[in-house]
Amino acid sequence: GSGAFLWVMSLTPVHTYVAGVAVRMNCELNGVEPPVCVTDNLIGSEPEDFQVILLGDMFYDDALAASLHSWLDRCIKSQGTKVLIGDPGRTQFEDFSSTNVLRRLAQFELPESVREENYGLSCSSVWRYHPEL
Ligand SMILES: C[S@@+](CC[C@H](N)C(=O)[O-])C[C@H]1O[C@@H](n2cnc3c(N)ncnc32)[C@H](O)[C@@H]1O
Repeated sequence: GSGAFLWVMSLTPVHTYVAGVAVRMNCELNGVEPPVCVTDNLIGSEPEDFQVILLGDMFYDDALAASLHSWLDRCIKSQGTKVLIGDPGRTQFEDFSSTNVLRRLAQFELPESVREENYGLSCSSVWRYHPEL
């Protein structure tokens, strides 16, 4: 569609680089202009009118998980933002997923190399976050 398209990358440089390449390739394949990329930390900031927020594997730390949870609530409540979360089932995510505010949209097996690096994890899911606000 038209309008601004903002893409916030990881705070880890190598992840930002890989994500940036993936986004560029995807844009080329789909014949669209690459988005504006920023690496600011938005968690805790005043919610803007984002249409969609996509998170990938960000529930790996207790403090981060808590601040993310409350910031997403604010974004959804004040802007009606759609929130999709990809997570391989880390412990910090279990507290969240046990509260019935998530709907599983898809599930994927993790590749062997990722399983080896993350003992105990075998698949990853994409969830829609629907808090009762
Ligand atoms: C567990 S890693 C994800 C690894 C990725 N799934 C992979 O396979 O390489 C979590 C990522 O969240 C990023 N991150 C942490 N806090 C962030 C923030 N406030 N905004 C954007 N990214 C953040 C980290 O920099 C890191 O890249």
